[in-house]
Amino acid sequence: MAQYLRLLKYALPYRGRIALSIGCLLIASLLNAVSVASLQPVFDGLFGGEGSRQLLSLPRALQPLLGDWVARVQDFLRAHQMSVLTFLAWFLLAVLLVKAMVNYVSVYLMKYVSERVMADVRDALYAHLHSLSLGFFLRKNTGEIVSRVTADVDALGAAVTDLFRNALREPFTIVGLVALLFVIHWQLALASLLIFPMTVIPILKFGQKIRRRGTRVLERRAELSTVIQEGITGIRIVQAFGMQAYERQRFCAKNRELFQAIMRIVRVDALSGPVMEILEAVGIVVAVWLGGYLVFRGELTPGAFMGFLGALASLYVPIKRLSAVNNNIQRGMAGVHRVFEVMDQQPEVTDRSGARGLPPVKETVAFEHVSFAYEPGRVILRDVHFQGKMGEIVAIVGPSGAGKSTLVNLLPRFFDPTDGRILLDGVDLRDVTLPSLRAQIGMVTQDTILFDDTVANNIAYGLSAAGGAAWAYGLFAAGGAVRVSGPAPDCDLARIREAARLANAEEFILQLPEGYATRIGEKGVRLSGGQKQRIAIARAILKDPPILILDEATSALDAEAERLVQEALERLMRNRTTFVIAHRLSTVIQADRIVVLEDGRLVEMGTHPELMAARGTYFRLYQNQPQEA
Ligand SMILES: Nc1ncnc2c1ncn2[C@@H]1O[C@H](COP(=O)(O)OP(=O)(O)OP(=O)(O)O)[C@@H](O)[C@H]1O
Ligand SMILES: [Mg+2]
Repeated sequence: MAQYLRLLKYALPYRGRIALSIGCLLIASLLNAVSVASLQPVFDGLFGGEGSRQLLSLPRALQPLLGDWVARVQDFLRAHQMSVLTFLAWFLLAVLLVKAMVNYVSVYLMKYVSERVMADVRDALYAHLHSLSLGFFLRKNTGEIVSRVTADVDALGAAVTDLFRNALREPFTIVGLVALLFVIHWQLALASLLIFPMTVIPILKFGQKIRRRGTRVLERRAELSTVIQEGITGIRIVQAFGMQAYERQRFCAKNRELFQAIMRIVRVDALSGPVMEILEAVGIVVAVWLGGYLVFRGELTPGAFMGFLGALASLYVPIKRLSAVNNNIQRGMAGVHRVFEVMDQQPEVTDRSGARGLPPVKETVAFEHVSFAYEPGRVILRDVHFQGKMGEIVAIVGPSGAGKSTLVNLLPRFFDPTDGRILLDGVDLRDVTLPSLRAQIGMVTQDTILFDDTVANNIAYGLSAAGGAAWAYGLFAAGGAVRVSGPAPDCDLARIREAARLANAEEFILQLPEGYATRIGEKGVRLSGGQKQRIAIARAILKDPPILILDEATSALDAEAERLVQEALERLMRNRTTFVIAHRLSTVIQADRIVVLEDGRLVEMGTHPELMAARGTYFRLYQNQPQEA
């Protein structure tokens, strides 16, 4: 119930449209009634024989009131048969036209509302996703997350439409028909409607089942979307290792599971109609038997009996529809549940209350007895304790899996230490606001991350978190229509080019078909590994942060290119603290401080000559390196 209300909150801004749509729906039903019901007595009057002065189609209760008037109308109609008929034809046409238009408006508005609600929910969900911490994304598959924003929200949309359209309309119809039954003969109505409350049980039971099974379907859909996502983004490896058949079979298996999950819903869904019919049959049999008996006893006229049966039969149409609607809504609620599940996720990394903005870091970056575990019980970093000063290059070396990337990932607070703390100029990271912290950190990650956009926009990405990207987007609109040499303010383009030059990237960028305006494809697929790295470095340089993190940032460059980038970086490193992670130890020789990690522990620290003299882990690592000229 709480979830319905929560969903309704999204529909609330559109209540005017919803009301109008429902109003139109009612008008359409009314016009329908007018077009059919009102014509019946008129036609009886038109075509009825001389003797038929009584209009059977009027309820008996009304006849005394209208009796004389009816007769006069009848006479008038007979006198002007043809023109009345023509008038009726036009009238009918007009009513049906208006009804069609009103119907259109009603359907359009309801669709509008459900699509808008879906769009709003998607917006909110996506915004919320971006407020979550990295840990959430590491725990969930991409396909799963994509599926929540797409398929699950689609399911939710169906619930919205049905909720307003049918769930509101059918009860009206039901109440009307029940009232009619009671007007005709209340005892008979009572007897034949005894079965009526029982229809609620299957409706609810089926609804529950469908909701549970609907959740399974959405889960299966998410799994399928993960398989697709992996199979397509990993296509290079799939093809290189000849795993197409395997991937196909993996997909088929998941697809089959999805099909089976859907069929489990279909079984319940298809059952609900017939079950309703059986209950209906019982009600009608009771009415036939009892009604017939009443007719024999003269307590009911045959006409009223037929009318009663007709109304009773049509009563089960809205009930059956309501049951189907409930099934749809429950299916949609499965999506609603999954959507809200994500919305209810709280970021693990949050600002402490009273967190302040971090002033530009000027002096130190200190790790104080930092321990960290991704999951309880498996400690990755143990009691790491060291300090880096402004203007220093801190190199972090150690065997693969030692925890180097993990260590630097604590700086922008992708995760918080499980023990100990990290201080910037003596202030705990957790006491400053996240945006102000991250604004001071530039990062080149171990796997280069680029976006399907132009070179210039990729470099300018994050130039200023608030609108820098939007700014760049306007300037270097992808698609080649806007040239870089076009309206770009010179200083901004100049800064981008400067960063690219420092990253030793300008040369290859200018050779691209459209220079800085070249689109580089999803994840930068149209660039080489080294080119991608240099764009990532240029991005970090352009941000010009007090703290720079280079995690294997030059690993894909040849020795010459690496030396060039290294030189540029050294020039840049003066007024900042730079953390460099590199397997190639030739790149860390100049570091002011080399931190050696082994199995999550800081085992050694010092400069290159000091560590070489100590003949410890660093010495061993260095000895095992292929020595470059
Ligand atoms: N998201 C994660 N969840 C659980 N464990 C993780 C996660 N990421 C890394 N690890 C584990 O943490 C340990 C340290 O990983 P990390 O990436 O920090 O190593 P590294 O020193 O950077 O290695 P490399 O030199 O290969 O990049 C590894 O044993 C790894 O299995
Ligand atoms: Mg690493």
